[in-house]
Amino acid sequence: MTYLPLRSLSQPPDSPVMAEWLGALGDALADPSTDRSVLCRRTLAELAYPEYAANWETAVADPKLPAGTRLALAALDPRNVTLEPEYYSDCDDARFQPVKPLLWLWYSFDRTPVGGQNVELGVHLRRLLAQYIFKRVGENFKAFQHVEFSFGYNLEVGDNVVIHRHVLLDDRGGIVIGNNVSVSDYANIYSHTHSIIDARDVTNAVTVLDDGVRITYHATVLAGVHVHCQGMVGAVAVATKDVRPYHVNVGIPAKSVRIKPNAPLDGEDCLPASRARQQG
Ligand SMILES: CC(C)(COP(=O)(O)OP(=O)(O)OC[C@H]1O[C@@H](n2cnc3c(N)ncnc32)[C@H](O)[C@@H]1OP(=O)(O)O)[C@@H](O)C(=O)NCCC(=O)NCCS
Repeated sequence: MTYLPLRSLSQPPDSPVMAEWLGALGDALADPSTDRSVLCRRTLAELAYPEYAANWETAVADPKLPAGTRLALAALDPRNVTLEPEYYSDCDDARFQPVKPLLWLWYSFDRTPVGGQNVELGVHLRRLLAQYIFKRVGENFKAFQHVEFSFGYNLEVGDNVVIHRHVLLDDRGGIVIGNNVSVSDYANIYSHTHSIIDARDVTNAVTVLDDGVRITYHATVLAGVHVHCQGMVGAVAVATKDVRPYHVNVGIPAKSVRIKPNAPLDGEDCLPASRARQQG
């Protein structure tokens, strides 16, 4: 294998506009009097339908505009859409409704030309929104496009966490993510499950990814599983049971195929290998 750390890129020419846009959004979010639904709709209108950004209220009610156009404009306001978690009986409206406009902004931004694959702007926007959606988020949070949540408010995230494209973080029962965790493309982390007899019989269980965990591409972690520190779940694996510290679990159901060579000698705690070896 070749050591290939990410390289740094120079700032794109539009970076002053990015900074201006993010700064204004950050100020609005920090102001407790901001109506988040209006902020979401105004932000999306400026990005996607600039000709209607200043006159949204009259445009959505203008019968001269085609119904489809009025519908598209109306949908910029999260009060005009329903999100799947709102149908769940265990959705706590007092917590979900304040984050809903920010989730809608996150998802909708990802479907615009300015969003989508635009890494620099997207990472900064999502880092900003995460502070107001998640229960907790640490330093340097990095999320790529098309990440989805259930509630958003039931998610705890440590420092230096990277969530890659098209990941599902189902935080219905709660997800706790430690520091330096990576969740790769198309992975699914669940925290709820359904009875095999009656799908309406739902069990929520907190799913935990400890420090240094890596969930690799297309893997699935089922509700209530604890992936212990530095554990790894291989590509396309389904983790149905806990993963021990430093173990690499692969397959369906995921089973340990190796212990990372940098594991502490006692194999059970999560001391950095160097310290554990000194003690040994
Ligand atoms: C988990 C992973 C890193 C294991 O790599 P590894 O430690 O080099 O393991 P090996 O390739 O020696 O495989 C050990 C055994 O497990 C099997 N195996 C490895 N990965 C597997 C997987 N994802 N699913 C099923 N079996 C797998 C191998 O076929 C081998 O089986 P064998 O002993 O019968 O021949 C790797 O398989 C993987 O899934 N990589 C995903 C890519 C990645 O690194 N993503 C990170 C992005 S951030």
